[in-house]
Amino acid sequence: AGTQPRHRSAAVVVRAEAINPEIRKSEEKVVDSVVVTELSKPLTAYCRCWRSGTFPLCDGSHVKHNKATGDNVGPLLLKKQ
Ligand code: FES
Repeated sequence: AGTQPRHRSAAVVVRAEAINPEIRKSEEKVVDSVVVTELSKPLTAYCRCWRSGTFPLCDGSHVKHNKATGDNVGPLLLKKQ
């Protein structure tokens, strides 16, 4: 009497794959700030695919990622007016 049933179904643990495979993994949370008062360059591209070798700047690695995965990620563009 008072025993727990032993026929419980196994817990299913679903874990989403991390979006960041390798960038600054020693940090608890990767945060970058950009203070924009005046842009010196006409265009700066910031990576949003987490695959760039020049993170946080885009180096075009999203093209390879998109072809390999069918994803559609691209950079954040800062444009000078
Ligand atoms: Fe990541 Fe371009 S390399 S968005």
